[in-house]
Formats: sequence, C-alpha cells, structure tokens
Amino acid sequence: MASTAAVIGSTGLVGNVILSTALGLDAFKTVYTISRRAPKPESPKLAATLETDTTKWTSNLSSITPPPSTVFSALGTTRVAAGGIANQWKVDHDLNVELAKAARAAGVKTFVFVSSGGTRAFPSSNLPYSKMKVGVEDSIKSLDFSQAIILRPGIILGHRDVPHQGGPLLIGLIHGLGKISQGWQDKWGAEAEVIGRAAVHASVLAAEGKAPSNYWILEQADIIRLGRDEWKA
Ligand SMILES: *[C@@H]1O[C@H](CO)[C@@H](O)[C@H](O)[C@H]1NC(C)=O
Repeated sequence: MASTAAVIGSTGLVGNVILSTALGLDAFKTVYTISRRAPKPESPKLAATLETDTTKWTSNLSSITPPPSTVFSALGTTRVAAGGIANQWKVDHDLNVELAKAARAAGVKTFVFVSSGGTRAFPSSNLPYSKMKVGVEDSIKSLDFSQAIILRPGIILGHRDVPHQGGPLLIGLIHGLGKISQGWQDKWGAEAEVIGRAAVHASVLAAEGKAPSNYWILEQADIIRLGRDEWKA
C-alpha cells in the first residue's frame, strides 16, 4: 500500500537525495517537504511548504492531514552558516527534537533521523557537535515511535553548495582512499547518494516488517549495504 512521507532538511546534501529517492518510489504516493527555500526535485507527488520562519515548522508539520506515515529529518546546519554554536544548537538539536515530538504527537509511525557516526566515543563525545547529535538520538529513543531509524554515517562525500568548514582536506583524503581501496573509503565515509538511499531503503524495509528492531541504528557499514550494495533502483 502506498504511503506518505515528509522530508525535513530536503535542501541539504543528504535530504535532497532522500527526497528524490522517495519521489521515485511507488511506495510513496505523496512526499511533503517543509523548507526555507524550494527543494530541487520537481514532481506531481511533491507537496512543498515554503516557510522561512523555522519556528513555524512544527506547526506546519502538525497540520499535514492525515499525518505522513514516515518523517525523515536530515536537518542540520553548520556552525558557520548558523552564526555560532548556540545558533547551530537551536536548529540541529532543538528544532529536530521539536519536530520529532510534533511527529509523535501527530501519530507518525516511523521517524528517520540522519545523525552522525563516532559521536559517542571519547574524545569526540566531548564536542558540542557530538552532544547535539546524541541529544537528538536520545530524545527520539525516548519518544518511543512504532519505528525509529537512526543513521550514523561517517564523512559525507558529495558536492555541497556551501563547502564544509575544515572539511576539504579531510574529504580530499577520504576521496583519495577511495581511489586506493573502496573498502578503506567505506570505513570512513560515504557519498550523500548512498546515505540518502540507505535512509529510504531502511524505511521501506521497516514498512514491510523487516526492521531488526523498533529502534534501528544504521552504522556506516549498514549504510553502505542498504544504500549501495543492496540498493536496486
Ligand atoms: C506554517 O505555519 C504557520 C503557523 O501555523 C502558518 O502561519 C504558516 O502559514 C504556515 N506556512 C505555510 C507555508 O503553510
């Protein structure tokens, strides 16, 4: 049976892939988005809400009727784009948590969150970035969705409209690793394409009752498997 989905963060690198992948599947008959600027893909199945005031987004999500069966959040900014860590926290942590709560209250069954790998290990667990991601993951867990899916990718490869700060050297290194050995690259990073497909693939498997648990964490290796090795489009 075809269902509906909502994608938050659809104008970002991974969110854009989630959106275009979901639009391409018969499993979804309508895909909603809530974003500041217009998402890239065009489709008769796309129902886009453009709202520049992000404090309205929870309300915009709650007013989708009937509620989407699946909500994907790939929402995240960078410290530079947000204008400091406090502002980044408001979006990456607070807004994601508020959206998850609104989704749960509206009766959304499946919540998919694109988090980040390596955030629970010392010493990176002390970084504000890690604390933001862990905080959102823990909130989603406590909301007890019928199905939650958390993706923990390593370095995200792909073309960004706004370059990642401090990233080019590291991203260059990971790309270089891929030229020597795909296996090495797979350990540290993945193309945005692979991560976005993994998110959608996992949600489809969950809808078919094939999720291994109702709080399903996809680590880097699971992301490569679902988004590339076992992905048939
Ligand atoms: C989003 O929600 C706010 C508050 O309910 C509302 O005023 C606004 O019109 C909504 N935006 C859109 C584009 O529907």
